Amino acid sequence: MTHRIAVIGGDGIGPEVTKEAIKVARAAGASLETQDFQLGAAHYERTAEVLKDETLAELMSFDAILLGAIGPAIGSTTVPSGILERGLLLKLRFALDLYINQRPFLTLDPTLTTTHKPVDMIVIRENTEGAYVGEGGLLRKGTPYEVATQGSVNTRNGVERAIRFAFDLAQSRERKLLTLVHKTNVLTYSGDLWYRTFLEVASEYPAVITSYNHVDAACIYLVEAPERYDVIVTDNLFGDIITDLAAAVSQGIGYAASANINPERTGPSLFEPVHGAAHDRVGTGEANPYAAIRSAAMMLDFLGDTAIAAKIEHALAVLPPAGATTTEIGDFYVERVTH
Ligand code: IPM
Ligand code: MN
Repeated sequence: MTHRIAVIGGDGIGPEVTKEAIKVARAAGASLETQDFQLGAAHYERTAEVLKDETLAELMSFDAILLGAIGPAIGSTTVPSGILERGLLLKLRFALDLYINQRPFLTLDPTLTTTHKPVDMIVIRENTEGAYVGEGGLLRKGTPYEVATQGSVNTRNGVERAIRFAFDLAQSRERKLLTLVHKTNVLTYSGDLWYRTFLEVASEYPAVITSYNHVDAACIYLVEAPERYDVIVTDNLFGDIITDLAAAVSQGIGYAASANINPERTGPSLFEPVHGAAHDRVGTGEANPYAAIRSAAMMLDFLGDTAIAAKIEHALAVLPPAGATTTEIGDFYVERVTH
């Protein structure tokens, strides 16, 4: 089946890595009709627009969105911090109700990692609530009596649907381990809601082995004993932070893929590498398209092209040759999916 894919290459190395991802997906047999959308820092600098309502409406008509990376070069002052994050990426996650951010981590060669420990886990990050809602305010700005509050919104429905998704996923995996990561000893209100919901849903999944870790302890385990984890479920902000850590200790941020999904398929889901725009690598061939290629495989799997997705995942089980450039890495996986 042909899928209509909106490609938001974005800034920096974004367009370079999405190009390789589409190339590998097509070589593996996917039939993709793509349309490029110019969005991100460069687009904002040119037009002062972040994401128009008409563009959002147009994006909603696609089967899926593949995104490269969004953001200005480090030190650039043309785009105030938060404008693109809130106005583009988070807007898409919220508007499309992409409440699951699924981030898999797999170590292919432990000798190449910082900790030399193999990681094989998936983090399910709640993606539409928590601190990302932006609740709070700044009082008496600019005075010595300033007060900033930054809340976190957690609804029973939002928490439960993320937890249920994680239980389903854990149940489908070999080890069937699910760990809730939170900070219930300090965040007593949200922690209570998360912990109670976790226990309640657990009673419906007797085959899943559950555990709980405070987020600070989880940071130690991720570095020292990552084999403790199979599936982790956590809130939006903890999920953001621990997935960068998981990426760093598993194989590096260049290998971290993600799927922002709405399991009910009320609209297109969004697939993107976890890494940023890395403007310093543009045109050098140093951008690693691995994470974008894996994100495309997750996209195809979600769209029902499961055999093609599995073929790409199988190809990705081998690391690209050391020193290969962006396009050479793409070519390497094209070769692996076609032979
Ligand atoms: C991520 C990113 C985003 C987030 C930023 C760019 C808003 O760090 O996808 O992990 O915080 O979720
Ligand atoms: Mn992040």
